[in-house]
Amino acid sequence: MGAPDRVNDTVGQRASPRPTPGTGAHFPHARPRCATAGEPADGPGPGAAALSRLRAPRLASGRARALGLASPGTTAAQRLRRVDRWLLAVHAAALTQPAAVPLVVDLGYGCSPVTTVELFTRLRALRPGARVVGLEQDPARVAAAGTASRDGLAFACGGFELAGLRPNVARAMNVLRQYDEPAAARAWSAMCAALGPGGLLVEGSCDDRGRLAAWVVLDASGPRSLVLATHPSSLRRPAALADVLPRALAERNVPGQPVHALLTAFDDAWARAASSSSWPSASGGARQRFVSACAALDWPQSGPARHHYGELCVPWASVAPT
Ligand SMILES: C[S@@+](CC[C@H](N)C(=O)[O-])C[C@H]1O[C@@H](n2cnc3c(N)ncnc32)[C@H](O)[C@@H]1O
Repeated sequence: MGAPDRVNDTVGQRASPRPTPGTGAHFPHARPRCATAGEPADGPGPGAAALSRLRAPRLASGRARALGLASPGTTAAQRLRRVDRWLLAVHAAALTQPAAVPLVVDLGYGCSPVTTVELFTRLRALRPGARVVGLEQDPARVAAAGTASRDGLAFACGGFELAGLRPNVARAMNVLRQYDEPAAARAWSAMCAALGPGGLLVEGSCDDRGRLAAWVVLDASGPRSLVLATHPSSLRRPAALADVLPRALAERNVPGQPVHALLTAFDDAWARAASSSSWPSASGGARQRFVSACAALDWPQSGPARHHYGELCVPWASVAPT
């Protein structure tokens, strides 16, 4: 493990290696701490000299974007309900089977802890005693969230090192959108290295109301799958999901890239489902159209089929940027 200044430089400046399963060698845990304006929040604390070099003037640069930017923290009640519903259904075992009380970290909960509280409430219904910790880089948001804390639910300062908590699951929704692609890749590596044994990272984006959402599921070995989730009645066409692609794919929706091919194929299947007798609009509606489109989609799919919930899950390998 390098000295803190060096480690921080690694997070901010250099190309990151692929996640290092289980070792955390390149992403040692930082002590929990709060950033001040212009100070990196996603790595170990740098010395004063390094801090002075990293202050405000560099916030507009690509390097500063790698380190944790100030953000309005936009969020909304129920915005992340699709992620929660999927997580608690598909990964129920990971949250209920550990002998020890499971821990979920919600990184970057925003200007209000409302989605963290919702996650906690849903998780407790599945697994009494489960713990949730909301982490934020913004100390004012941590202080403000204190009124929502309760037995099993806490809020603290932290970044991509996950405050050294080693959670079973980490959720980071709408956090990496402000980062550039290389910085987001380094954030993935840092978060994956900080997971507990067998842990999962769920990282993605959604629209304001949570009707369009997409997230990547990762474990210590890296990204495993991409989930596209929507409210079928609100879906104009699957290509609209391009607006919420996770940071790793957001700029890859261009011809020649696999995710573009997926959305194009999904659009075609959606169009065919509209004209197909297998989609009787009077009885099926948009949900059945979504199910039919997913069934007709000529693309590898993974995980349990949850098309009726408006979800499509594909292996990461099928959409990874080339
Ligand atoms: C748009 S809000 C997302 C709120 C909520 N997760 C949601 O999806 O509605 C993004 C939040 O991520 C936080 N954030 C960004 N980078 C971070 C980092 N490196 N460590 C911790 N929090 C970070 C910002 O402070 C901001 O409050």
